[in-house]
Amino acid sequence: MRNVILTGFMGTGKSSVGKLLATELGFRFRDLDEMIERIENLTINELFEKYGEGHFRSLEEAVVRSFSDAEGMVISTGGGAVISHKNRAVFKSIGCIVNLTASPEMIIERLEHDDRRPLLKGSKTRETIENLMRERESFYADADIRIDTTGKKLEDVTREILLFLEGRD
Ligand code: S3P
Repeated sequence: MRNVILTGFMGTGKSSVGKLLATELGFRFRDLDEMIERIENLTINELFEKYGEGHFRSLEEAVVRSFSDAEGMVISTGGGAVISHKNRAVFKSIGCIVNLTASPEMIIERLEHDDRRPLLKGSKTRETIENLMRERESFYADADIRIDTTGKKLEDVTREILLFLEGRD
């Protein structure tokens, strides 16, 4: 397996699980949002405010494209990266796609004190989250494995992924 790509809604634990998973596998860890912020020298919030979501999605596609020849990486994607068919094609071609899920209640709890998600600004409600999840469900479902992280420790989620990957080798 060349790379592991973590997809999933905001607050499903992609970045924290990704870091630990990379350490366990001896892979390098990459976070798409962090890369975009570093390249643009702006936070995700600032990017959305200044240039809008469309511009952010173009930057996201450009960063994903740069992974076309990646090897030995665990890549944590932003919750909306799977919307783009170009991104999905890259993810499929470079490795194993692991989709993390969580209940809307769990997501609200995890993101309660977090204001870094422009799409949930001022409306961290069950309804907003469920609607966005429903819109994206078919894209999230298109994964090699889906793991429900609700109520689980990141160590346990990571162990589940490792077991799955061992079974595939
Ligand atoms: C987004 C998720 C965010 C970030 C941006 C848009 C989304 O990443 O890319 O705010 O569309 O779901 P996380 O999933 O890491 O929060």
